[in-house]
Amino acid sequence: MKNMLISPSLLAADFARLGEELKAVEAAGADMLHLDVMDGVFVPNISFGMPVITSLRKASSLFFDVHIMIVDPLRYIEDLAKAGASGVTFHLEAAEDVGSVIRAIKARGMKAGLTLKPGTPVERLLPWLPELDLALVMSVEPGFGGQSFMPKMMDKVSAIRREADRLGLGDLLIQVDGGVARDTAAACGAAGANCLVAGSAIFGKADYAAETEAIRAAANGSLG
Ligand code: DX5
Ligand code: ZN
Repeated sequence: MKNMLISPSLLAADFARLGEELKAVEAAGADMLHLDVMDGVFVPNISFGMPVITSLRKASSLFFDVHIMIVDPLRYIEDLAKAGASGVTFHLEAAEDVGSVIRAIKARGMKAGLTLKPGTPVERLLPWLPELDLALVMSVEPGFGGQSFMPKMMDKVSAIRREADRLGLGDLLIQVDGGVARDTAAACGAAGANCLVAGSAIFGKADYAAETEAIRAAANGSLG
């Protein structure tokens, strides 16, 4: 059976206890940590930036899966690398030249991810797949945690899975972010995702390990 990777989103953590929260999801079996960086311009919310990532990096060697919701992503790739990002996923709507952002991320030894808002057609992402380590499908409007999962977005996941299989991109991570929980994880797995982000479904609960495993099991159950 394939194994679904789980990337808990720190956005739903208790920000007064970030170090402990990081340790707790690590102990709960997280495969990576999802860090949502928002600038109040590309999305109508502001979260955290480099100083927080830099501090957390000292406390853990977990893969830092940084999702940037910012305008002009190229401008911050160097700073993200210095802060300790392991991978950077940016929005194609925000980049003037998508190819140069991908190249800048890889040149700094990080994994390159590309994503798109729910209203953006998946056809704009497909041509980039051969250059990517990760393709992220947003299943909510970016900007806030705790929103409802948009099942229609699984069509985009299927389209990416088909194209990745056609091109033989066996290592590509196909990630889903937004409203992922026990009851929505199976649809993600069935559509062909192999990596799930979950914020409120993990940090909002009493037992992080039980939630992480329940999401993974629900998703794995639908994997071929
Ligand atoms: C939304 C962020 C998500 C968010 C997910 O803009 O990209 O990563 O934290 O939160 P949940 O899992 O609560 O929908
Ligand atoms: Zn995110």
